Amino acid sequence: MHSEGQSPHLPFGDQKGAPWRGRDILTVKQFSRSDLDYVFGVAHEMSVMVEQVGAIDLLKGKILANLFYEPSTRTSCSFMAAMQRLGGAVIPINEVKSSSVAKGETIGDTVRSLGCYADVVVIRNPEVGSAALAAEHAITPVINAGDGVGEHPTQALLDTFTIREELGRLDNLNVTLLGDLKNGRTVHSLARLLTRFEGITLHYVSPPTLRMPQEVVDEVAATGIAQTVHESLDEVLAETDVLYVTRIQKERFESAAAYEEVKDAFVVTPETLTRAKQAMIVMHPLPRVNEISVECDDDPRAAYFRQMEYGMYVRMALLALVLGRA
Ligand code: CP
Repeated sequence: MHSEGQSPHLPFGDQKGAPWRGRDILTVKQFSRSDLDYVFGVAHEMSVMVEQVGAIDLLKGKILANLFYEPSTRTSCSFMAAMQRLGGAVIPINEVKSSSVAKGETIGDTVRSLGCYADVVVIRNPEVGSAALAAEHAITPVINAGDGVGEHPTQALLDTFTIREELGRLDNLNVTLLGDLKNGRTVHSLARLLTRFEGITLHYVSPPTLRMPQEVVDEVAATGIAQTVHESLDEVLAETDVLYVTRIQKERFESAAAYEEVKDAFVVTPETLTRAKQAMIVMHPLPRVNEISVECDDDPRAAYFRQMEYGMYVRMALLALVLGRA
């Protein structure tokens, strides 16, 4: 849905009229630094509200259609929880095989139809560009919950909010992205979003076959942010403020043999953390497989479950903003 007089290519703060109401959220490229400060301020207010009263009626009468063509626990459930904590309702479509998608209905017709019942559509689909395609046809705002190996903008927003809440700053940080940087859409969005801040250095640690795509590296380089590339975590661990671990994305590999070659390339253990700063955090978008051992979970630096909770507050803020109620 593109509102009259507004462009999907401009930051929210540069839009005419009500900058957020009715807008799609398709890519982190839509967010300026001041947009992020605003979203994070609203997300923080949401966290205080949940702690004090649990839920309010801000979105009473509003309905979210949650359209997931790929599996999800966190993104799907946190959008549902976010809507319910704001007094709204949800149409959950977590198994598209039981919808008319199974009869061959297009994304365009599906989101157009959902707009007859709902006020906002959240979509996850395996094709890059699918959320943008949905937005072209939708009569409601569309929020991208992951388009294949493309982007996962609300994850990057919650990741950045997590860093702000946990470390108290978003400037002057060494951020190490570890694992499957080729196929992990969360790191594509996060690297782009961190270019909005000052004094960030991005360290990419991966097997040679799973490096950060050149397109992302070039976009980040154009902003002047420093980037380094490594095959060993030891080269950057001691200076790391944020260690962002990702799963090797088995479902994106062309063969089982190719996956087997790299699946255990990096495993973070308590021993790994003995060589890291005390004032650092370990993040992971989850789900994890083997890449962080469960023995790390009780380390106060392990922020990945707190990260999930921050995600609900960010998604509450985004829903309130695009529905014109923040
Ligand atoms: N982080 C994330 O996108 O998790 P889900 O796949 O469970 O939604």
